[in-house]
Amino acid sequence: MEKISSSVEETLTFAKSFAEKIQRGDIIVLEGDLGAGKTHFVKGFASGIGSKSLVTSPTFTIMNIYEGGRIPVYHFDMYRLSSKEEAEELGFEEYFDASILDGVSIVEWPSQVEGLIKPPYYKIQIEKLSENARKIFIGRVEK
Ligand SMILES: Nc1ncnc2c1ncn2[C@@H]1O[C@H](COP(=O)(O)OP(=O)(O)OP(=O)(O)O)[C@@H](O)[C@H]1O
Ligand SMILES: [Mg+2]
Repeated sequence: MEKISSSVEETLTFAKSFAEKIQRGDIIVLEGDLGAGKTHFVKGFASGIGSKSLVTSPTFTIMNIYEGGRIPVYHFDMYRLSSKEEAEELGFEEYFDASILDGVSIVEWPSQVEGLIKPPYYKIQIEKLSENARKIFIGRVEK
């Protein structure tokens, strides 16, 4: 599925409606350059899950948890992680194991933890077309 968003508002609304089909145990990776709009997508997504928590970039903390919605949202930003091993040391593996995950995990910069997140998962790619326009592609990576 592909969508052209021409504003932040449109990205928020699109992410919000994507959240409707998400189930407990689902995993989502978000790809795109710096400033593509990954964190804004998560903002719309968390509101679609029903959380009223403030969504911020978890760059320094690596993970934020948003509760109060129909399931917990685990928001990762792997940008500052130095290795996949570091993610394992931090105990992140359990957030990528659908059989024990009690919410949904959504991950910025998944390439930093190559191999840690195993299919099936949703793969979202955001491409900057212009100052305010973005191409958002949603795919599914199967086992
Ligand atoms: N259509 C749009 N959708 C999303 N963001 C947009 C759009 N148009 C402009 N923007 C701007 O692009 C920026 C996206 O920032 P955001 O923090 O969401 O990016 P990011 O992909 O999470 O970056 P990073 O890799 O640094 O975490 C914001 O400044 C936002 O206002
Ligand atoms: Mg971000």
